[in-house]
Amino acid sequence: MIILRTVNDVRQYVSTQRGRGASIGLVPTMGALHEGHLSLVEKAVAGNDVVIVSVFVNPTQFNNPDDLASYPRKEEDDFRLLAGAGASAVFAPSVEEIYPGGPSAQPGHIFELGRAAEVMEGKYRPGHFQGVAQIVSLLFRLVEPDRAYFGEKDFQQIAVIRNMVASEGIKVEIVACPIKRANDGLALSSRNALLSPAQRALAPSIHAALAESVAFSKEHSVRETHAMVVEKINAVDEMEVEYFEIVDARTLAAVEEWEESPWIVGCITVYCGKVRLIDNIAYRLPKD
Ligand code: PAJ
Repeated sequence: MIILRTVNDVRQYVSTQRGRGASIGLVPTMGALHEGHLSLVEKAVAGNDVVIVSVFVNPTQFNNPDDLASYPRKEEDDFRLLAGAGASAVFAPSVEEIYPGGPSAQPGHIFELGRAAEVMEGKYRPGHFQGVAQIVSLLFRLVEPDRAYFGEKDFQQIAVIRNMVASEGIKVEIVACPIKRANDGLALSSRNALLSPAQRALAPSIHAALAESVAFSKEHSVRETHAMVVEKINAVDEMEVEYFEIVDARTLAAVEEWEESPWIVGCITVYCGKVRLIDNIAYRLPKD
């Protein structure tokens, strides 16, 4: 596996690979890698001749400076894991390399991300998706991948990136990958490393409540299901639901009746102490 540090390194590498007719898969990450990230890399390895993984903690998508400062960084471990998963190259640039004018400089371009970017994360983390669009579009233009891989753990992020790709006219196939969980059900996340042992023991109650609510939803209204999840999780020590929304999976607009859409997802964000955890679950799937 080759380590690329600069934009020029990437340009050269991509041009060499294109020259020999290789297809390219891109997996954007912020590092502190776990099995969830690696499942994306493995899927990319299976579907492309060459796989580039980016490891970059993108400052412009953090609206909370403490969150950015405490975000886990483990470059050496990441590189070892990526080599083991079969990545061809890792792009791990400095902040200066990506934002020569400084990360707080006005992006100079407002991305058209649609209504999907205004709800949930968009509401609670103002500017977050503009920052995500900024870095992901930069990576797409640099690498021009045939396919790019994203996890359904960040369900809304995928919808927003699809909108960004459409509005920017970028040609790339977006591949959505299922959520990887620990054996106790907790969605794997780089932020799980920030939980105390006591918090880590309680955190699986998020997925437990969501999973229980799927059966509950067969005989209860959207409103009742919503209330049940929020009550259950808020009753757990140190846990506080920031938002829970039951939405149409395509538009991300809130639904009031189960009959409103064939594909309905519940998206949740919970503070466990100071650690912000995100998860989601499908209530209705088109194939049901
Ligand atoms: P990060 O949180 O590092 O996640 C990188 C990718 O891994 C995302 O597509 C995310 O959805 C996926 N992922 C994380 N945990 C997962 C899990 N448990 N199961 C499946 N996939 C999982 O998301 C970002 O970084 C950034 O916003 C980024 C897109 C890299 C832009 O900076």
